[in-house]
Amino acid sequence: MTVSLAVTGPATLVGTGADGGFAHDLKEALAQRPRSISPKYFYDVQGSRLFDRICTLPEYYPTRAETAILSAHAQHIAAQIGPRAEMVEFGAGSLTKVRLLLDAMDRPARYLPIDISAEHLGTCAAALRADYPALDVLPVTADYTQRLLLPASLPGGGRRVGFFPGSTIGNFTPREALHFLQVACQVLRGGALLLGADLIKDPAVLHAAYNDAQGVTAAFNLNLLERANRELGTDFVPQRFAHSAFYNAPLQRIEMHLVSRCQQYVTLSGERHEFDEGETLHTENSYKFTIDGLRMLAERAGFRPGSVWTDDAGLFSVHWLHAPA
Ligand code: AVJ
Repeated sequence: MTVSLAVTGPATLVGTGADGGFAHDLKEALAQRPRSISPKYFYDVQGSRLFDRICTLPEYYPTRAETAILSAHAQHIAAQIGPRAEMVEFGAGSLTKVRLLLDAMDRPARYLPIDISAEHLGTCAAALRADYPALDVLPVTADYTQRLLLPASLPGGGRRVGFFPGSTIGNFTPREALHFLQVACQVLRGGALLLGADLIKDPAVLHAAYNDAQGVTAAFNLNLLERANRELGTDFVPQRFAHSAFYNAPLQRIEMHLVSRCQQYVTLSGERHEFDEGETLHTENSYKFTIDGLRMLAERAGFRPGSVWTDDAGLFSVHWLHAPA
């Protein structure tokens, strides 16, 4: 992953990915051993909807825990953000959590939600505009893991504050997380980053969160194959793959895989790829953190760690990270 940074004029924000897109990355994934692909490809319209359902599952605690933290401490957080601020959200998804902040903030000036799913982002941005008529909502369809292009800060505006909730930072490898934070620290200089990070805990609790009883996480994982069939004309038979998610304790991460249930072939643009029985396509890592580990990582990236908030059960953490000017 390479993250570069550019500041554009005041009007538009365009993200240009330096990757080759889904077709290119899936082709590469199928040629590798072991096979793995970026979890960013989960999020087509169907995948984004499935993810929203995951967030409401009884076993999936991160969304509830983080929402509880943001609600409980909204005043304190809003005071740190300050008046007329510009919020920049990375991987904004359905734009629900930011409302908790906007409602508590003093005259928020502008909101830039950055997300990879254009259609989903457009729908959600329209709903947000309707609810916050005074707010300048500027949605950006971009892959923030590739490039971060931000317009110039608002003249006379308040701080520029990054918002990266949901522990999406856990999708990065430790090296990628450091690199992302370094770039974010540059873009947000003089402001701050509000970062949500899932905490290391009882592996049984972690396991249940990624193996829900209703099978929504399994459907979310398998949707990657269905998306490939829809968009790239592959001939994956989803029933021939099993959802697998487990906690890799030494690496402090949940791993999700799609496991081939049998020996089989899959065709992508005329090329046949063999899967042995039990062979996997690694679809996601979701790293878990300690509070101190995350603060140290942020410090190495140039931030000055400030307040940390957790829920009562200590499942999840939200960090205020100052970006020095
Ligand atoms: C959106 C990356 C934070 O890792 O928990 C949920 C995605 N994957 N269930 C996570 C996810 C399976 C989620 N993140």
